[in-house]
Amino acid sequence: MSELVKFSVESGVGVITVENPPVNALSPGVPEGIAESIGQAADGASVRAVVLIGAGRTFVAGADIKQLEEQAHGRGPGAPNLHQLLKSIEDCPKPVVVAIHGTALGGGLELAMAGHYRVASPDAQAGQPEVNLGIIPGAEGSQRLPRLVGVAAAIEMFVSGKAIGASEAVRLGLFDKIIEGDLRAGAVAFARHVAESGGPHRRTRDKTEKLGSPESNAAILDAGRERARKIRRNMIAPLRVIDAVEAAVALPFEEGCRREREIVEKCLAGEEARALIHAFFAERAVSKVRGISKETRTHSIRMAGVIGAGTMGTGIAMVLANAGITVLLKETDQAALDRGLASVRKNYESAVHKARLTAHEMEERIALIQPQLTYSGFGGADIIIEAVFENMSLKKQVFGEIDKIAKGDCVLATNTSTLDIDEIAGATSRPHMVVGIHFFSPAHVMRLVEVVRGARTDKEVIATAMALAKRLRKVGVLVGNCRGFVGNRMMLPYMREAQFLVEEGSTPSQVDQALYDFGIAMGIFAVDDMGGLDLGWRVLQDTKRLLKPGDRTPLVLEKLYDAHRWGQKTGAGWYRYEDGRTPIRDPEVEALIETTAEQAGIARRSISKEEIIERCLYVMINEGSRILGEGFAQRAADIDTIYITGYGFPAYRGGPMWYADTVGLSKIYERILEFHREHGEYWTPAPLLERLVRDRQTFAAFDAANEQAVTGSPESQ
Ligand code: CAA
Ligand code: NAI
Repeated sequence: MSELVKFSVESGVGVITVENPPVNALSPGVPEGIAESIGQAADGASVRAVVLIGAGRTFVAGADIKQLEEQAHGRGPGAPNLHQLLKSIEDCPKPVVVAIHGTALGGGLELAMAGHYRVASPDAQAGQPEVNLGIIPGAEGSQRLPRLVGVAAAIEMFVSGKAIGASEAVRLGLFDKIIEGDLRAGAVAFARHVAESGGPHRRTRDKTEKLGSPESNAAILDAGRERARKIRRNMIAPLRVIDAVEAAVALPFEEGCRREREIVEKCLAGEEARALIHAFFAERAVSKVRGISKETRTHSIRMAGVIGAGTMGTGIAMVLANAGITVLLKETDQAALDRGLASVRKNYESAVHKARLTAHEMEERIALIQPQLTYSGFGGADIIIEAVFENMSLKKQVFGEIDKIAKGDCVLATNTSTLDIDEIAGATSRPHMVVGIHFFSPAHVMRLVEVVRGARTDKEVIATAMALAKRLRKVGVLVGNCRGFVGNRMMLPYMREAQFLVEEGSTPSQVDQALYDFGIAMGIFAVDDMGGLDLGWRVLQDTKRLLKPGDRTPLVLEKLYDAHRWGQKTGAGWYRYEDGRTPIRDPEVEALIETTAEQAGIARRSISKEEIIERCLYVMINEGSRILGEGFAQRAADIDTIYITGYGFPAYRGGPMWYADTVGLSKIYERILEFHREHGEYWTPAPLLERLVRDRQTFAAFDAANEQAVTGSPESQ
C-alpha cells in the first residue's frame, strides 16, 4: 500500500484516506494508492460501502502542479491519466461516498465526481481552477461537471475558475449532503445508510438529464464564450474548456473524455500554461526569504497604530481590522479624521451591499478602529504603520515621535513609496526595528505589499512583516531599499518612455491601446490619470535633480499640470472625463502634444504597435535586470509577482521577466542596443542582462542557479 494513502475498515465501511500534505495533491503514489484501496474495498467481504476522505487541512486540491510543470516544459510525462482510476471508482460495486473538507479543486473535484455520493463539511469548497494554470480539467471534469450541475453553471465554474461553497454545491447538485460536526464519522454513517438502502448507485457518467442537446445549449455555449473573452481577455484555455463542454453535450462520455484529453495536452504544450504555472509557483516562492527560516522568531501582532487617515492610512486600517487586529488611527485634525472614517464606512458598506460582508461584521470591524488625534495608547501597539504625506522631514519628525512612545519590541513601519528607509530609520534610536511595508492603493483591495528591508532591519522584523502580509491575505514580496523599490522603480522608465512615444508621434490612446491589447489591465496614461498627474509631476520635479547634462526629459506632463489637468480628479488629464472615470480621447491634448514636439524640434512619425510594446516593456525589463543585478529583488520571479499582483501585468504572460525569457534575451538585448544608439543613455543595457545574453542564459535559469547556490540543491526547495 502506498505511504500516501491509508485503508481501514470501520463498521463495515472501507475508509480510504489520502495523506499527502500539505494539500493532498495527486502526486505519484496517490492515484495508485487509491486504486489499490478501491480494489481492496471491492473485494473485501466485510466491506459494504466506501468513504474516500483527505487527511489534514483539505481534501485533494488537484493534480500535482509540479508534474504539470514538467510536462509543460517537456521534461516528464506529466500528471498521470486518471481514466482507469476514475472508472474503477465509478464501477465499484459498493457505493463510494466522497467526504470533502477544505478545498476539492481540479483533479480533487474530478476524483470526487467519480464517486457515487459527495458529502461535505459546511465550509468545504469545490472548484475547477485549471484555467488559472492555462489548462482545462484533465481528469474528465469537463464531462462530469455539466452532468451534475448543468451546462451553464459548469461553464461559469470552468471559466471563472472560482470555487463555490458547500451550500451552493448542494443547491447545484454537486454535493448530496452537508455534514455538521465530525465529517469522517458522518460520512461513514451516510455510507452505511446508502449501502443499506440498496441502491442503485447512479454513476455520474450516466446522468444526462441536465446535459440537454447541442441545439438547446447553443445560446449557453455562445454566452460562455463571450464571457470567457471578457473576463479572461486574450486567453486560450477558457475558450477551449467550452469546446470540451460542447463535446460533453454532443458526444458519448468516452469520446468526450478523449476530446478533453487532446485539448488539455495542447494547452500544456502552450506558452500560456507555462507562464501561468510559473506565476503560480512564483507567487508562493516570494514568501521564502533567504536567511529567514520557519524557525525565525516573529513578533505577535494584536494591536496596531496607524498614523495618517488619508487614502492609504484608512485602507491599511481596514485590512488590519479585517484580520481582527485592533487599530489606533491617528490624524492631525478632526476634519481629516472624519473624512477618513467616512471613507472606511463607505468601503465597508459597499462590501455589505455586494454581500461580501454582513452588517454585523461591518460594525465589528469598524469598532476595532479607534480614531484619535493623539498618540494615546500607542505605547501598547505591537506595530506602528506610518502613512502621512510623502515628505522626508515630516516622516522623520513622526518617527522621532513614535520612537519615544513605542514599546521596545514594537515594529516601526513606513508606507512610503519612494523615500529612503534608512534615512527614516535614522530618526529613531532603533533602526533595526524599522521596515517599509508598502501597500498599494486601494490598500483594502490590492493584493501586493512590498516589504522593504533597510540596511539595519532586523531579520525578525522582516519575518514579522512578511507574516503580517500573509495574515492580511496579501502577497508580501521582500525588496531592497532603492528609489521606488521594485515596482515603482520599473514604472518610472516605463512612464517616461510612453511620454517620449507620444512626443515622437503616437497619441496617448494609441499607446494605451497597444498596452491593453498586449494584455496589461490598463494603459499607462489612463493609470496616470487615475493616480493623479500632480503625483507624476512631483516625481518628475524630484527626478530632475538626478538628470545629467543632455538627458532628455518628458515635456508634456508639466504643461498638463500647469493647465490644471491633473487626471480624473479634475475631470481631465491625458484624457478628458465626462463620467469621472471613463477616458475619452481629447483632441486638445493631442494638439498640445504636437505643438510641444514641434517647438522642441522632435520629428513626428507613425509608430507601430510593435515598437510601442518594445519600448515600453523592454525599458521596464532592462530596469528589472538592473534591480536584480543590484540585489534589490531576490528573484526575477519576485519581480514577476510584483507586476502581476500589483501592476495589472497579464499573468498569462508570466510577468515581465518571464515574458523577456519567452521573447529571448538576446533579441531584447539587440533591440535595447538599437534604442541606445537612437535614444541615448536611458537605454544603456543593464550589466546583468548583458551577462545573461553572453552566457546564453535566461532569468528563470538565473533564479534556479541562485536557489541552488543558497540551498545546495535545487530539489531541497
Ligand atoms: N500541486 C502541487 N503543489 C501544490 C498544489 C498542487 N495542486 N497546491 C498547492 N501546492 C503547494 C504550494 O506550492 C505550496 O507549497 P510551498 O509551501 O512549498 O510553497 C503549498 O502547497 C501550500 O500552498 P498555498 O501556500 O497555496 O496554501 P493555501 O492554504 O494558501 O492554499 C490551495 C491552498 C487553495 C489548495 C492553493 O494552494 C491552491 O489553489 N492550489 C492550487 C489548486 C489547483 O489549481 N488545483 C488544480 C490543479 S490542476 C489539475 O488538477 C488538473 C487536472 O484536472 C487533473
Ligand atoms: P494622503 O494625503 O491621502 O494622507 C496623508 C494623511 O496624513 C493626511 O490625512 C494628513 O492629514 C495625515 N497626516 C499628516 N501628518 C500627520 C501626522 N503628523 N500625524 C497624523 N496624521 C498626519 O496621502 P496618502 O496617499 O494616503 O499617502 C500616504 C503615504 O502612503 C505616502 O507616504 C505615500 O507616498 C504612500 N503611498 C501612497 C499611495 C497612493 O496611491 N496614494 C500608494 C502607496 C503608498
